[in-house]
Amino acid sequence: MTEKAITKSIDNSQEDEVYINSSILRNFVEDVFIKLKVPKPDAKIIANGIIQSDLRGIDSHGIQRCKMYFDRIKQGIYNPITKVEILSDNGATAVIDGNCGMGHVIGFHSMKLAIEKAKIFGVGAVAVRNSTHYGFAGIYSLMAIEEGMIGFTTTNARPAVPPTFGVEPMLGTNPLTYGAPTDEAFPFLIDCATSIIQRGKVEVYNRTHKNLPRGVIITENGNTETNPEDVLNDLCDRSAALLPLGGKGEATSGYKGYGYATFAEILSAALQDGIYLKDTAGIIENGQKKLKVGHFFLAIDVNHFRPLDGFKETTGNIMRELRNSKKVPGAKKIYTAGEKEYLNEKESEIKGIPLNKSLQKDIMIMQEELQLNHYNFSFK
Ligand SMILES: NC(=O)c1ccc[n+]([C@@H]2O[C@H](COP(=O)([O-])OP(=O)(O)OC[C@H]3O[C@@H](n4cnc5c(N)ncnc54)[C@H](O)[C@@H]3O)[C@@H](O)[C@H]2O)c1
Repeated sequence: MTEKAITKSIDNSQEDEVYINSSILRNFVEDVFIKLKVPKPDAKIIANGIIQSDLRGIDSHGIQRCKMYFDRIKQGIYNPITKVEILSDNGATAVIDGNCGMGHVIGFHSMKLAIEKAKIFGVGAVAVRNSTHYGFAGIYSLMAIEEGMIGFTTTNARPAVPPTFGVEPMLGTNPLTYGAPTDEAFPFLIDCATSIIQRGKVEVYNRTHKNLPRGVIITENGNTETNPEDVLNDLCDRSAALLPLGGKGEATSGYKGYGYATFAEILSAALQDGIYLKDTAGIIENGQKKLKVGHFFLAIDVNHFRPLDGFKETTGNIMRELRNSKKVPGAKKIYTAGEKEYLNEKESEIKGIPLNKSLQKDIMIMQEELQLNHYNFSFK
């Protein structure tokens, strides 16, 4: 399927949604990748990344991206067998080549290495070249948080975002994802794109036939656009772009998102001599299209600065003070970053993961093609 061939699929409404137990869906996703020749331990890592995203309510990077990976493996764009190669290893830093393997697997091993280094040196930083889409970025910062560390990651991505005063998609939606442990049941985790809306969310709007809010897209004429199907096609034609955080022009400081996205691009490309900007839309190597990106991972071991318990108390206090501050009239609650995803995870572990009609169709296509006949989904 070419990216242009994005079609409005079956009509969707809330009533058409079915909830599927996350363990069943996790097994299904794992089996999809095993059938595509991904080794079992790697298939587990990918399935975990996809299902954790859905459990946390990040539907843009969950099961809805499974068919995209399925198509890209079949088209030879991604290598199902991931070879993580350490190109240089200098104390607290390392450079890794992902050899166009599976991004989730490359991301997992890279953050693991950054954590190991942080245990020794206080900080560990790993730059990655020749990787592929690594899913929801928060999962890597969470790995560091589980070890009592501050975690940070960023990646570049296909061109989607214009510079301030520009209309051409140049930068990716380049997330900047920062997390820190707290003394509460959930950490601080700000995990989002440097654009107002990211491509995966536009895909969700398209699957559920909802219009985008005005002012998040800029067309080549400088106007806004709200039909998600048109936006996805126009992004491929480079005739529309996703505005950076802060929006169009300077009035609401669009240059802030533009600057942050640019720094994410630098971290994701310049430290490891990787590809950047327009080349992330795809390059041809030996007659084969490849979709490459770069990543950056940072782990900071809190214990090298002060005892972890004291740090967690301070970060917990910051969260509590923010949540207890005066609310805007009519607002029920103030949240801190990472809280909604924690609450969603608790709920969806019981309730299951919602699948709209369009996702059900994707699952049926993969199930049929890969002969995964032992799954009896209720929507079949
Ligand atoms: N791999 C890639 O190329 C790529 C590119 C872009 C985005 N992403 C991923 O897409 C996912 C979603 O990104 P997004 O830009 O749509 O995120 P988003 O706009 O939904 O924002 C999510 C973040 O905002 C926080 N948040 C939400 N409401 C809040 C509130 N009221 N108060 C405080 N904090 C609040 C959440 O806890 C979370 O950290 C992320 O996981 C990101 O890593 C991946």
